[in-house]
Amino acid sequence: MKTYTVAVAGATGLVGRTMIKVLEERNFPVETLIPLASSRSVGKEIQFRGKPYTVQELTPEAFKGVDIALFSAGATVSVDVAPKLRKYGTVVIDNSSAFRMDENVPLVVPEVNKHAIFKHKGIIANPNCSTIQMVVVLKPLHDVFRIKRVVVSTYQSVTGAGQKGVDQLEDEIAGRPLRAPKFPHQIAYNVIPHIDVFYENGYTKEELKMINETKKIMEDNIPVTATTVRVPVLGGHSESVNIEFEQPCTVEEVKAILRKAPGVVLLDDPQTNLYPMPITAFGKDEVFVGRIRKDYTVKSGINVWIVADNVRKGAATNAVQIAEALIAGL
Ligand SMILES: NC(=O)c1ccc[n+]([C@@H]2O[C@H](COP(=O)([O-])OP(=O)(O)OC[C@H]3O[C@@H](n4cnc5c(N)ncnc54)[C@H](OP(=O)(O)O)[C@@H]3O)[C@@H](O)[C@H]2O)c1
Repeated sequence: MKTYTVAVAGATGLVGRTMIKVLEERNFPVETLIPLASSRSVGKEIQFRGKPYTVQELTPEAFKGVDIALFSAGATVSVDVAPKLRKYGTVVIDNSSAFRMDENVPLVVPEVNKHAIFKHKGIIANPNCSTIQMVVVLKPLHDVFRIKRVVVSTYQSVTGAGQKGVDQLEDEIAGRPLRAPKFPHQIAYNVIPHIDVFYENGYTKEELKMINETKKIMEDNIPVTATTVRVPVLGGHSESVNIEFEQPCTVEEVKAILRKAPGVVLLDDPQTNLYPMPITAFGKDEVFVGRIRKDYTVKSGINVWIVADNVRKGAATNAVQIAEALIAGL
């Protein structure tokens, strides 16, 4: 089997550390692993397949000879470094928002639009974590009932804001001074209806990511409206999603489709209190769905509750799945 030189840019972060774990778990054919981070982390050790690897400084030159680079060091680093790697023939799978809406960059969730991968010109983008878990559920339903409109509200965990988000929640719960404030308000025992920056129209950037990325991944004519909210949960994003369809549908038909959908696990038995929660999804790669019920205010529509581990399926696992599809030639 062919093996690859794989770099992880942002290897010391929440997503980067998980990428390395997922590469190992899924037995990705790594010949050489190159963990990269900022100058602050140079010399730190990362374990991969039981062996220590030393973190090197993330510079364009560090990617010479790299076949696949998984980027999770933030948008500024991606914009600065990723385009420079074409000369090395490195394919970048980027977790930041830097290139997601660039028309020359495929935006890929393998369960939904794997075929888009091969349009890449050196960079493939991983969508926003909240978008990924939603489209994995929307796609198989859209194929059958045609989606007319989607209304989503999210309940996003602090790991979605990286290590600093986790630090703020833990410091607040422990009642100690904050190492570095990440959120605009206290997050412990609170809920903040604000993720990323506000635009003049009142929406946040996180909300517009869900709206625009869904269209790019699925179809341009799928109207989505979103409210994205940070909650004091450690890991796992939840979403309340209302979907209106063109075609008639029953709850049983929806459940039957989702039972068979790739990457989806149906957990839906209200009589036994069975529904997905962040602790259900934490550490797992699937997207969990439950609380499926008819929306009686429209001709054809449902409410669903969708949960996934934002650091795994929402970032690291999705990126490694893209790499797997890439080397498999689809
Ligand atoms: N957390 C999620 O659920 C999630 C989901 C989807 C996408 N993402 C995206 O993934 C990226 C990383 O998120 P994260 O949660 O892993 O954040 P994080 O825990 O804060 O980690 C950031 C990583 O980037 C490195 N880094 C930061 N600035 C750098 C610089 N100037 N040069 C080189 N390396 C630098 C850090 O290295 P040091 O340790 O040396 O500082 C660290 O390895 C972000 O773009 C984020 O939007 C995150």
